Amino acid sequence: MRGTSFMTQRSSMNKAPAIEAPSIKAIVFDAYGTLYDVQSVESVTDAAFPGYGAFITQVWRLKQLEYTWLRSMMGKYEDFWTITKDALAFTIETLGFRAEAALFEKIAEAYNTLAPYPDAEAALRSLSSYHLAILSNGSPPMLRTLVRNSGFESLIKTVISVDAKKVFKPDPRAYTLVEEETGFTPENVLFVSSNGFDISGARSFGFHVARIERVTRAALRAELTDAERIGSARMFKALRTQAEHLGFPPDFVVNSLGDLPALVSRGFALPR
Ligand code: LAC
Repeated sequence: MRGTSFMTQRSSMNKAPAIEAPSIKAIVFDAYGTLYDVQSVESVTDAAFPGYGAFITQVWRLKQLEYTWLRSMMGKYEDFWTITKDALAFTIETLGFRAEAALFEKIAEAYNTLAPYPDAEAALRSLSSYHLAILSNGSPPMLRTLVRNSGFESLIKTVISVDAKKVFKPDPRAYTLVEEETGFTPENVLFVSSNGFDISGARSFGFHVARIERVTRAALRAELTDAERIGSARMFKALRTQAEHLGFPPDFVVNSLGDLPALVSRGFALPR
């Protein structure tokens, strides 16, 4: 049987001697993908661009996370709302579509009204004897709106945004906010996430970590035997070959290495 708690999981891996149960006092949740379903934006993306909702939803989320890591590494922090809109602009542009300002805002706003996972509320209620918190990349206004819209205000005691540190998870500075905001040291914290990078980051930082395995390996394997139309090569092209929405555009754009000598001989005067 799969471990349903840190206790079960650890004791099943280590038969003897029995491991002392950690003293958990606070349970800290990741937000997007853990308590809230990022796939739930698909009704909005598909209404805006019929037939492309699934593609937009996936590329948008992947780019959004990628931009958090890139901006952290570049030392060019922008908050998660800006990043969410930049990733959406990238995605729409990659498909060659346009969204007028009002439609664009409407799609972006879907991130503020994400549906909680159906199991979220009951879990939070049954864990109410612990100090319950969120530590998320979301900006403070995004998290406030999200928690309010889902009716979780009374269930979650502390909502922490990485914005205070101007760096995104899994940078360790982001995780230090849990102790700063709740007073609980990492050995007293169970961190809950379904995002792989966040699970590794939180564990590396020193929290006890519970992974929510929303997609089992077996379920995924079963799905992968069914080849889909937008294959992985196209997904790669969409994600990796287009101009980024991070600011800092290149000075020159050429189509091949063979164009470089001409650029040089023109004294770097290629029209942009
Ligand atoms: C968050 C991202 C990891 O909520 O989904 O911080």
